[in-house]
Amino acid sequence: MKKSYGVNELRRMYLEFFESKGHLAMKSFSLVPHNDNSLLLINAGMAPLKPYFTGQEIPPRRRVTTCQKCIRTGDIENVGKTARHLTFFEMLGNFSFGDYFKHEAIAWSWEFLTKVLGLEEDRLYPSIYGEDDEAFDIWTKEVGIPEDHMVRLGKEDNFWEHGSGPCGPCSEIYFDRGPEYGCGKPTCGVGCDCDRYMEIWNLVFSQFDADGKGHYERLARPNIDTGMGLERLACVMQGVGNLFEVDTDQSVLH
Ligand code: SER
Repeated sequence: MKKSYGVNELRRMYLEFFESKGHLAMKSFSLVPHNDNSLLLINAGMAPLKPYFTGQEIPPRRRVTTCQKCIRTGDIENVGKTARHLTFFEMLGNFSFGDYFKHEAIAWSWEFLTKVLGLEEDRLYPSIYGEDDEAFDIWTKEVGIPEDHMVRLGKEDNFWEHGSGPCGPCSEIYFDRGPEYGCGKPTCGVGCDCDRYMEIWNLVFSQFDADGKGHYERLARPNIDTGMGLERLACVMQGVGNLFEVDTDQSVLH
């Protein structure tokens, strides 16, 4: 049964859930990147952890979970227009540095959303990268998602890559907020630009090393990088219209 949890409760529940799965909960890193000239501000949970993904530094544990403060400006033109974009937000994440991979990442995301938080299974739609049959099989055969709730999307939506280096397909979990939030177009569905199907969690399966010229080498020890917007999750759990209406924002505004 879905309950209305506050932002602060959701943050704690997430970190505790992944601690129970052997992760080390680390504090949010500073918004100002450390030894990373490629970013002005931290824009994702994985950004301050890059040295662990590339092997430049040894992580304190091979399983880590964080709630990272982020500033994202790449999609700033959407802020204030959609229900789901913010400039400053917190990103919940669980990370595997060459430890567990797709099976666990998928199974745990489903367990957290449906068992811990009680979200209705039939309102959740996982998307996968077009060719990623491995993820499709895990979702449908191991987790038991009906095929009509699975969506295959292309490289622009479901392949996480930045020039050269570790990269890979991803699987995003969308929540159907209902037709009242939709654009009403006959083509409306997962991946539509409107606010009906809200992407809440991105599971990145970092399984290749790219040379930046179209060549992908499979990594011997693939990684997991997941990111779930805390305010988006709260918006869904609290059944409010947009991210500015979640409890913590409201307590500042009133
Ligand atoms: N890096 C991915 C994202 O920011 C998943 O954490 O969406």
